[in-house]
Amino acid sequence: MCGIVGAIAQRNVSEILLEGLRRLEYRGYDSAGLAILSAEGDIQRTRALGKVIELEKAIHAETDGKGLQGSIGIAHTRWATHGVPSKENAHPHMSSDDVVLVHNGIIENYQDLKAELKTQGYVFNSQTDSEVVIHLIHRELKLHDFGQAVKNAISHLEGAYALAIMQKGNQDELWVARQGSPLVIGVGMDEYYVGSDPLALLQVTDRFIYLEEGDLAHITRKKLTILDKDHNVVERDVSVFDHKVGTASKGEYKHFMLKETFEQPTVIKQCLEGRISATKVLDQAFGVKAADILDQVEAVQIIACGTSYHSGMVTKYWIEKYAGIPCQVEVASEFRYRHTVIAKNTLLITISQSGETADTLAALRKAKEQGLLASMTVCNVPGSSLVRESDLCLMTNAGPEIGVASTKAFTTQLTALLLLTVALAKRNGMSEAAETEIVTALHQLPGLVEKALALDPVIEKISQLFADKHHSLFLGRGPMYPIAQEGALKLKEISYIHAEAYPAGELKHGPLALVDEDMPIIAVAPKNDLLEKLVSNLEEVKARGGELFVFADESVNLYDLDDQHLVSLPTVPCCLEPIVYIIPLQLLSYHVAVLKGTDVDQPRNLAKSVTVE
Ligand code: AGP
Repeated sequence: MCGIVGAIAQRNVSEILLEGLRRLEYRGYDSAGLAILSAEGDIQRTRALGKVIELEKAIHAETDGKGLQGSIGIAHTRWATHGVPSKENAHPHMSSDDVVLVHNGIIENYQDLKAELKTQGYVFNSQTDSEVVIHLIHRELKLHDFGQAVKNAISHLEGAYALAIMQKGNQDELWVARQGSPLVIGVGMDEYYVGSDPLALLQVTDRFIYLEEGDLAHITRKKLTILDKDHNVVERDVSVFDHKVGTASKGEYKHFMLKETFEQPTVIKQCLEGRISATKVLDQAFGVKAADILDQVEAVQIIACGTSYHSGMVTKYWIEKYAGIPCQVEVASEFRYRHTVIAKNTLLITISQSGETADTLAALRKAKEQGLLASMTVCNVPGSSLVRESDLCLMTNAGPEIGVASTKAFTTQLTALLLLTVALAKRNGMSEAAETEIVTALHQLPGLVEKALALDPVIEKISQLFADKHHSLFLGRGPMYPIAQEGALKLKEISYIHAEAYPAGELKHGPLALVDEDMPIIAVAPKNDLLEKLVSNLEEVKARGGELFVFADESVNLYDLDDQHLVSLPTVPCCLEPIVYIIPLQLLSYHVAVLKGTDVDQPRNLAKSVTVE
């Protein structure tokens, strides 16, 4: 999704901005641009369709290899929402060479504003919603100073925005604002930086101020003034970025996704660290305020999107089985617009890798208005909007996840949510022995994930049988159904092969009609109470000529399916099956995508952090 970088410094900011854009590449984008004020105060702007490297080439060409010079600048990676990906639609956007801006988010009333501005003589050079904002500021500048013009302009905006704005001839002032889209300010020595994500700025600072909803900031080299939504001057805390959470480098791996897949044993350990003893889930695992809240929980509502929704789906099976508490799960984009009824004493759990997903954030805000016992977020990004707006947070501690296809964020979400399940279950009669059984299993989890990863060469070989397929069907039962869904999501998002997931018992109610020799069917078959039922479903497939790929427990004799493709996994304690069985599906989708030559880390049309609706 769109990324913002800005800097007002004592030195040339060109490389700070370009490096920031490179660090934001993982978010997914289609074009990039940058504007820097020259020593004379002129706006020098360069934009390019495609990757940041294309922008660098364009700057090189436009400046005869000298590069851009200036100590104040703004830059952007765009992910198209209004208007096709093109140089004209790329940011920064300007109004009459006088003011320039970058924008993340969506201006919902842009059409009305555009019509009004057109009648006032403004000519639009792009199809974007963002361009209205810079013309509004330009209009206000005719009567007001820079700061007042920004304040007046944003008072007309409906929707979501993070903005960074510069003015021709004004090397001393940068204005930024946020409403509904994240924005952080990096603090340096007589320098300030702006980013939609702290990762963009780690090369220059590790001290950050997270702007809150409705905040505006006036930034000079010596002074930062933050105003809240009512324009009162406010102080916001400076947080120091925790470098332990890792850095965004691929290391020896060809893709971030592969690196992140293989990091799973380590990050699962990190997620468990300090939260379990040899036999117990520790009370302090959920923060100081948690105990009182968890004591009162009578219902759980989970809200999330995509992969995070799938971890919510698995958690529903766990919470209802172990804690005996009703648990609902819903995708955030539905929940936020539906007439919802929240049961008494509901703990609302949002799950999100980024903590910035617009739908999840909006759903949380809506649920809070309806009345909740409390909200908790299971999140990977400290300081993110969901973390700041929730009563409790359970950090997944997976370190930055750069590949658009989520891997380690998913398995750490599940690990954290299993801990939470135990905490709730203990309050609802789970015996000490049952708790010990799960905690003992959790201690084995990193080793079991290692064993599943060791199947990589086998899975790489199997992936060759997928490269020419156009459709596929994933099957699972019980908590393995959401794992089938997650496996299907992985395959479709990075290999572009159509993949659907079904609870295997549903096959005969329709999807069986799809089965023929061109349709690979992937099934996850751990040794559990539902195995026999699943095998009968697979036999139905085999009888109709379907080609089966079964990931099954090594101790199970699946002789009826022997002529199919069987991959054996170690025996896994029942509570861990979802976490271990997703590993081969992640590897399968990765290898199929590599064979198909797709952009594994930044698949087409997708963004890492979906900060717009
Ligand atoms: C996962 O592979 C996807 N890229 C996507 O479904 C993602 O999980 C979804 O957009 C939610 O993101 P979040 O976890 O950051 O809220």
